[in-house]
Amino acid sequence: MNTDAACPATPFPQRVASAVPLQAATTEILWQSAEDPRIAARLAELDADLGQVRVSVDAVESGVPQLDVDESYTLETLSDGVRLQAATTWGALHAVSTLRQICTLHDLSAHGLSVEDHPRFSWRGLLVDVARHFIPLDVLLRVVDGMALLKMNVLHLHLTDDQGFRFPSAAFPELVSDEAYGVAELSMLVTHAADRGIRVVPEIDVPGHVQSWLAARPDWGLHEIDPTRRFGVHKACLNPNDEAVYAALTTLFKEVAAVFPDDYVHIGGDEVHPAWWSEDAALQAFIEEQGLGDVRGLQAYFNRRVHGILERLGKRVVGWDEVLHPGMPKLTVQNWRGATTRDRALADGLACIVSSGFYLDLFYPADVHYRYDIALSQAELTAQEDALQTDLRFQHVADGMAWTRQWRDGAVEAESLSGRLLGGEACLWSELVDGATLETRLFSRLPAVAERFWSAAGTLDADNFYARLGPLLAMPPFVIALREESQLQALGLNAAQIAAARYLEPVKWYARLLGETALAARIAGSEMPQARPYTCDTPLNRVVDFLSPESLSARALRDMEVSELEQLAAVWTRLEDEAWPEDVAAPAAALAEIGRLLARYLQTGEDVRGEIGSLYGPHGEYMIAAVPPLLERLAGS
Ligand code: ACM
Repeated sequence: MNTDAACPATPFPQRVASAVPLQAATTEILWQSAEDPRIAARLAELDADLGQVRVSVDAVESGVPQLDVDESYTLETLSDGVRLQAATTWGALHAVSTLRQICTLHDLSAHGLSVEDHPRFSWRGLLVDVARHFIPLDVLLRVVDGMALLKMNVLHLHLTDDQGFRFPSAAFPELVSDEAYGVAELSMLVTHAADRGIRVVPEIDVPGHVQSWLAARPDWGLHEIDPTRRFGVHKACLNPNDEAVYAALTTLFKEVAAVFPDDYVHIGGDEVHPAWWSEDAALQAFIEEQGLGDVRGLQAYFNRRVHGILERLGKRVVGWDEVLHPGMPKLTVQNWRGATTRDRALADGLACIVSSGFYLDLFYPADVHYRYDIALSQAELTAQEDALQTDLRFQHVADGMAWTRQWRDGAVEAESLSGRLLGGEACLWSELVDGATLETRLFSRLPAVAERFWSAAGTLDADNFYARLGPLLAMPPFVIALREESQLQALGLNAAQIAAARYLEPVKWYARLLGETALAARIAGSEMPQARPYTCDTPLNRVVDFLSPESLSARALRDMEVSELEQLAAVWTRLEDEAWPEDVAAPAAALAEIGRLLARYLQTGEDVRGEIGSLYGPHGEYMIAAVPPLLERLAGS
């Protein structure tokens, strides 16, 4: 929904909502249909005096939501209260989320507001990788609360990977990492999500990304292998010609199906390293004997077997876009390797979920995600991908981004795309995210993706979006500015340093994760870069870990008055007097130099844009986020 007509253009950060919702003092629910306990519970959480709330829900739902349920609703504010109508509980829950936004961000007493709303896409998801770093349940519960406020409806849990196995298998306890969920915890998550209209889709990633399994069960692979703490693609792979593997997967997926009632199970299928399979004589003979062609055909064979297992459990299957192959089973494809795999899936008559364009681990600003409309033509989307390489904000990683063009191999120019675009998913991979850092990393940009999946195709005005974003991010459970401040304080930064740090951003794309050596190796075509700065054991405890990936303080520079710029220049000039953590000393010095240049410009009018531009970065893992908006501001003055 777009509430821009009533929305004040509030600069960031102006308001921080109370973290403790007050009980509504005089809210009274008047049920116009059967009472709906879920709606009553959500209304009771609202921090507002709503007066009389007349609620009509045609179908009160007590189970879990599924794909393609009716999520429409209408909402009216009247002189004595509110009228809320929906065909189902799911739509009514969205109405309450809208009401919560209106109560917090606008003035409910301005009655006469009438909203008639429904989503554009029925799969509006978020992947959280709980394997690379374990994400505690209380964080996931808050993630669900945030998704509900944004009317997202699928939480995709990436439960297993090379570094960790977080599903509590009773049949195979040897697979389960020390840090894992209990069955009761996962059931609580499923219930908490369903109570907010959100499905939980589990992912068990096979046949690659399984080093954590094979370290415990080498008999399911081809070689003895140690546990791993490093990131990047690993060679470990299940043996697709071993009936014991399929028997184990049958048992495991039965356990998964017993915990997750959703119709869908995700089987991964991404980044299967070919080495083990292509170097194994017995597997090569099997490929020959079965007429599978090559290791890609062998993966399609494996996928057909796994698809059969899940079909017998009454489940529908999703896989990453590497599952695309003429011999693949009919499953839903989750696109991630650039725009073109969407059309390859749709041209094959398959359902598709789009995630390319929505990787929140890349530290992109919200506008990049916001404009990536998943129903645009392939040419328009690839043009957006290309445009990032000439965007000043990504110059420092443009060569790395160009590396991803190889993903366009095999692109189809389909005359008719007969499959169905179900929607999209934001992805938060957790190599550089843990329980303490997840919420800032996630919530800072998730509203852009949520609006892209919910709102009408024409809702593309980024300035309008940003005007609404600051106040929205002050709401619980987001509280971005508040969390950022308290976490930076805990690192020992004083108020002036925190204000200055808010003009910095982490470097973009995979620059942090890969580091300089591995980034160069990747650009040069090396599949398995060896030296990366981060492993699972690297503490995520520096300023760069707690900063929002996008500086809204910097964005506000575009519209600053000269007097405010003068003050800021004076403040920045003094930054070198502060005691900075070692990794922030260089960017702080650069910001101080920018302060001196800005002061000189304001005093003399001398063109300092070239010098300011040269200070943008990278400075270690930081960019001076103030630079691009400042250059814009100075160009306009
Ligand atoms: C993926 O990002 N490997 C799906």
